Amino acid sequence: MSKNVIFCFSGTGNCLDIAKNIAKALGDTDIVMMRRAPAVRDVHEAERVGFVFPCYAGGLPGDVEKFARSLFVSPKSYTFGVVSYAGYPGVGLSKLNEIIPLNYHAGISHQSACIWLMPHTMMFPVLTPEKAQKRSEELAAKIAEDVKRGVVSDKKPSAPLFNKIEASVWPKLAPKKAAAFAVSGKCIGCGQCAALCPKGNIKMVAGRPDFGTDCVQCLSCLQFCPKEAIHMGGVTVKRERWHNPNVTALELNEKIIHID
Ligand SMILES: Cc1cc2nc3c(=O)[nH]c(=O)nc-3n(C[C@H](O)[C@H](O)[C@H](O)COP(=O)(O)O)c2cc1C
Repeated sequence: MSKNVIFCFSGTGNCLDIAKNIAKALGDTDIVMMRRAPAVRDVHEAERVGFVFPCYAGGLPGDVEKFARSLFVSPKSYTFGVVSYAGYPGVGLSKLNEIIPLNYHAGISHQSACIWLMPHTMMFPVLTPEKAQKRSEELAAKIAEDVKRGVVSDKKPSAPLFNKIEASVWPKLAPKKAAAFAVSGKCIGCGQCAALCPKGNIKMVAGRPDFGTDCVQCLSCLQFCPKEAIHMGGVTVKRERWHNPNVTALELNEKIIHID
């Protein structure tokens, strides 16, 4: 087992990029992906255990809450949580803190992955992708320094009521939104979308993706599609795609990424 373990959920790569940057600064780190059930659950020997995930509808993404409950983290380990978001951090850190008490927590705002709701540049404050990426790298470096020094946050993560309500309705809304997935004639049948889907919700039928509704809305299928052939309602047809420039679809699908 590596000295440090970071559990990471990422749909469009911002969180994996943040996790990699923190891991590079810490050294000897296993990034364990949490898009699907984590390949490692017993991390009680790790000196530091971190979590990096995005805010989805004010709460935790995918099955992160369920997976967090299944982990064995020693109370002796230093624990930290980092949330990436476009406009507000939501209640994800607070929820996680109830499951695994966090010594330290922080947030990083980045480009919005929620293409059906708004253009990716509509983060608050609005920043170009280049500037947002630079800021994300600077903040990840600062977080890594804090983690190395064992800084302890003086306040618990916040839990605004509006975000709690949003997060509680999201598990019902996400599958409904998925009913709008469609594929255009640009599709080359590469099957990357099906391979990426953390829920196995996309099946290749006659060389084309067929979408079910068991969807967590990570939008990796749509945002990483090499031909931009996947849509979700009319608004996404013309809207520019976003995925983090430092993360590939292949990497997103790894179970564990080790960084020395
Ligand atoms: C389905 C979905 C819901 C989201 N909900 C929120 C939200 O409630 N608040 C917010 O500030 N950002 C929200 N975002 C934006 C993401 O938190 C942000 O883009 C994050 O950096 C994505 O991380 P990733 O690239 O690792 O997936 C949402 C994104 C998606 C795809």
